[in-house]
Amino acid sequence: MVLLDGRKVADSILENLKNEVKDLKKKNINPYIAVILVGKNPASLSYIKQKRKACEKTGIKWEQIDYDENVTTEGLIKKIHELNENPKIHGILVQLPLPKHIYTPEVIKAIEPKKDVDGFTAYNIGKMFLSTEFEHLPPCTPAGVIELLDYYKIDLKGKEVTVVGASNIVGKPLSIMFLNRNATVTTCHIHTKDLRSHTINADIVAVGVGKQNLITADMVKDGVIIIDIGCNKKEDGKLCGDCDFESISKKASYITPVPGGIGPMTVAYLMKNTVNAAKRINNLIP
Ligand code: GUN
Repeated sequence: MVLLDGRKVADSILENLKNEVKDLKKKNINPYIAVILVGKNPASLSYIKQKRKACEKTGIKWEQIDYDENVTTEGLIKKIHELNENPKIHGILVQLPLPKHIYTPEVIKAIEPKKDVDGFTAYNIGKMFLSTEFEHLPPCTPAGVIELLDYYKIDLKGKEVTVVGASNIVGKPLSIMFLNRNATVTTCHIHTKDLRSHTINADIVAVGVGKQNLITADMVKDGVIIIDIGCNKKEDGKLCGDCDFESISKKASYITPVPGGIGPMTVAYLMKNTVNAAKRINNLIP
């Protein structure tokens, strides 16, 4: 069994980006991300802390705009329009989830696609849907998964892949990215009747639903490749994924740990998107 070491791969991506940011600064381009946080959701605070640390490591400028829970949809959209117009800002990220009274799709829609470093706008999702060559600002978690598999030279062509989870930010785009790399893809979700029947023959199982021990060893075949995108807190406060790592790691050929798997890859890809947004806005790349 080989551990897919997202921490190590992410660190090497950040190291390369650090050098790239240094070179961009010589050209007077200072990659700059603005992050909007509403409220004090503990998970969001923890994610934001990791993103800020990655900015410090790479030299990307960070600005955090905090709102209390009472902010309106209009208030957020007004701020996003300001950031869209600000030529110094290359990336805009609205940390999700937003409070219930805010209409999230309208907020995301307000982000200028060139600055949409989360890859959440319809424009960037649509480009990613069409073909790998148009993945200019892909969503960070799915892109991080593909980058990790690429690093370990895991070929996706013809592979049977089962994605468990169908969210707009993970499961759906990840399914499309696998499909565009010529895998045969099954997407399972909350209404799937018999999950095991879809995971048991899969060469790759990628799961991100936020349910501890959803995937157990009896649900996968020998030699399976496991991508665990889940992030759950155990009773003892430690993090774990959606797969029963202990038993599945005895059957798997490759497996991502949690923590230290897809989490750091997601953050590294956000940095990569921010640097690419800065380059594209300055016409350095197509
Ligand atoms: N909330 C959970 N994951 C994410 C993410 O990747 N980006 C943003 N903006 N919010 C999130």
